Amino acid sequence: MGDDIAARLTLGEGHTPIVSAGSDLEGVALKLEFVFPTLSFKDRGAVVLIASAVERGARRVVADSSGNAGSAIAAYAARAGLECQVFVPAAISARKRAQILAYGASLECVAGDRTAAAEAAIAAVARTGATYASHIYNPYFLQGTKTFAFELWEQLGRGVPDAVIVPAGNGTLALGAARGFSELQAAGLIERVPALIALQSECCAPLAQAWTMGSREPVDVEVTPTSAEGIAIPRPARGAQILAAVAHSGGCVVSVPEVAIEPAQRDLAARGLFVEPTAALVWAGLLIARHHPAVRGIAVESEGWTVARALTRGNVAVPLCGSGLK
Ligand SMILES: Cc1ncc(COP(=O)(O)O)c(C=O)c1O
Repeated sequence: MGDDIAARLTLGEGHTPIVSAGSDLEGVALKLEFVFPTLSFKDRGAVVLIASAVERGARRVVADSSGNAGSAIAAYAARAGLECQVFVPAAISARKRAQILAYGASLECVAGDRTAAAEAAIAAVARTGATYASHIYNPYFLQGTKTFAFELWEQLGRGVPDAVIVPAGNGTLALGAARGFSELQAAGLIERVPALIALQSECCAPLAQAWTMGSREPVDVEVTPTSAEGIAIPRPARGAQILAAVAHSGGCVVSVPEVAIEPAQRDLAARGLFVEPTAALVWAGLLIARHHPAVRGIAVESEGWTVARALTRGNVAVPLCGSGLK
């Protein structure tokens, strides 16, 4: 990729802070993935995706998103001088919609779930010949999100934790992190990859249910409303890849009860960190795994949770992926 394109597009993304959770949660490191130019980790992938689109001569890009990827792609498209159209489910937060519009993108609110938004975007690409800036299918996006693993390794003194908890919707962070850790291992820089503990919402858990059933493919699920809109993906296109990456790492996939999100969001705010519900769900997962008083009384018993509890006894890193201002 041309250095001049990268230099023109970068907003200084990456190198997000890593801080300790507090004395009540020994060994837990928080990586503040909401400290990004567009306030979510999606900038990692969006800058690489848009740079590759510019390099290939794109003029117009189309994306679909639950909000954060759309904002990131709209921001970098604006910086690159590309026209941008973003398809989102109509029910996403008003602030995410406002952010996409602020970057000058045209916003298409689609009735239905996240899959309906993706289908509408693909139809628009077929109709108009625009470049499909998909953070799910386009491999350049994962080339960006893998930097999460590299940074963690650098910031932890050239080492990795025993486990990393990741949100899993379409798996752009889970798959990017898995790729980054594998590359570190292949380069001889780490002996073993951390176990990935992938979290879904109990309201939309095609991967967690597949994990429980021993299926290598995401299963069809009934979806109910969740405040964790960023990971409400009923049919993740890379679902089989996500399940395989988690299995390869020695981790597990589990679902988190909706009632745990709010207490987790409050718990983080009491630690000085304000995140959106999707990010709070990831924190809820850590609190549940560690039997923290903030989630006392919230019951989760399954084979997956038994594994998650064992894996989080040691050093664990938790990305907080989106700002509460979203
Ligand atoms: C805040 C936040 N966390 C996690 C995710 C899940 O990311 P992925 O779909 O890559 O698994 C998203 C996706 O939009 C998000 O916005």
